[in-house]
Amino acid sequence: MNEFFRIVGSGGARTLKGEIRIAGAKNAALKVLAASILFRDPLRLTNMPDIEDVDRISDLLVSMGASIDRKGSVLTVDTRSLHTHELTSDIAKRLRASIVLSGPVLARTGRVSFPHPGGCVIGERPIDLFLEGFTKMGATVTLRDKTYDVVAADGKLRGAEIFFRTPTVTGTETFMMAATLAKGTTILKNAAMEPEIPWLAEILNACGAQISGAGTSTITIKGTGGKRLTAKDHSFSILPDRIEAGSFLILGALAAKELTITNCIPEHLESLIEMLEFAGVPVTKGKRSLTVRAPAQKVVPRSIPVKTHEYPGFPTDLQAPMIVFLTQSKGESTVFETIFEGRLNFTEGLNRMGAAITMMDPHRVLVKGPTPLRGKRLESPDLRAGLAFILAAVVADGVSEIFNAYYVDRGYEHVEERLRSIGVKIERCAVSSATDVHTRSGDPVC
Ligand code: EPZ
Repeated sequence: MNEFFRIVGSGGARTLKGEIRIAGAKNAALKVLAASILFRDPLRLTNMPDIEDVDRISDLLVSMGASIDRKGSVLTVDTRSLHTHELTSDIAKRLRASIVLSGPVLARTGRVSFPHPGGCVIGERPIDLFLEGFTKMGATVTLRDKTYDVVAADGKLRGAEIFFRTPTVTGTETFMMAATLAKGTTILKNAAMEPEIPWLAEILNACGAQISGAGTSTITIKGTGGKRLTAKDHSFSILPDRIEAGSFLILGALAAKELTITNCIPEHLESLIEMLEFAGVPVTKGKRSLTVRAPAQKVVPRSIPVKTHEYPGFPTDLQAPMIVFLTQSKGESTVFETIFEGRLNFTEGLNRMGAAITMMDPHRVLVKGPTPLRGKRLESPDLRAGLAFILAAVVADGVSEIFNAYYVDRGYEHVEERLRSIGVKIERCAVSSATDVHTRSGDPVC
């Protein structure tokens, strides 16, 4: 059943107001769930977001023998009964993030086998840095029937020095976890510095790991030689989602009388806040909140050049919502997507709504604004573009239908409920047959 969001646009009127609470971060939750494989006792996690990707990784862990108990936003994972080194379920093929399980499984069992994770619309998503890193840590890698089989020499990984040719977020996390149980010391150089990485390191260190430098480009891990970590009676809260917070901040900058984003970490969003303020939209920072008002006139005063960059630069995951913002900004803006080669294709959908976006090459577009947008029927190609289409639909004139709601649900918890609470006219609808369209609550017409 394909669910979609139906949104009645406000035509640029500044109608939204109130508060929206940020959930735990998808890209933190998935990694700490993978890290549970390094533990010899249960790991209790709070502020766990209710999103599809957490359910998929949970299903994958359970298929490997783990037990997972979830009550609301509290999730306890116990991997003591892990009984396989194989990540061969179809989940591993579909979910790029499953690759982060490879490090902990290899470090704990001495072996891991996994399919090449699917590339998706944003780019090819290679894993050469993972395979090279495992080899440097003394493992042998073979590829048979599209499945990688990685075996550690005499069952244990050994410390190594690994320089990432390009900073890789999941690569940094995977090797930080793998090195935790290795024999000897590992040094990761040109490591990614996204906030989810020091957050994960802090949890591992609280449970017996010896990681230093996380959050900088050089991370040193003194391995335990195989002794697993213990959470004892600690609980760990999932880091608030900076990408969700940034997406809603952009929504507020486009369409809010006054919007406050709560349970977020403002210092994780400095690059976006700087951009919005440079464009003429002031942002008020609280300790764990951000407040924004859309400019009174219907136009963002100033267009701005955008270039995505590893943290603390402008995040590629906010590129799509930012392009929607630029369609309402006065003037011409260039957007340079430096990280993924397929992440600008969604702009074709915005042009169908009335935007004026020219693709210059797979990494660059030129956005001319402001352009009034009209409601359209669109298919979300991925979760970040899907959220961007929702933002565009809110500021458009008329009704939009954004299909593939599942993609948005992968990373945004209960998105329609939270958006409705600040004044967005949004319904989740289901198409169970060509003619039968109804709301999730079963109302006949969505
Ligand atoms: C993580 O993906 C995030 N996903 C992505 O978020 C995010 O866009 C990305 O980091 C960049 O911030 C998760 O954390 C689950 P990379 P990741 O490895 O780790 C190249 C979302 O919407 N590369 O940092 O897969 C790669 O092609 C998702 O939440 C290699 O060449 O990204 C890219 O150009 C989308 N070889 C660059 O590195 C490798 O072996 C950075 O990618 C690995 C990566």
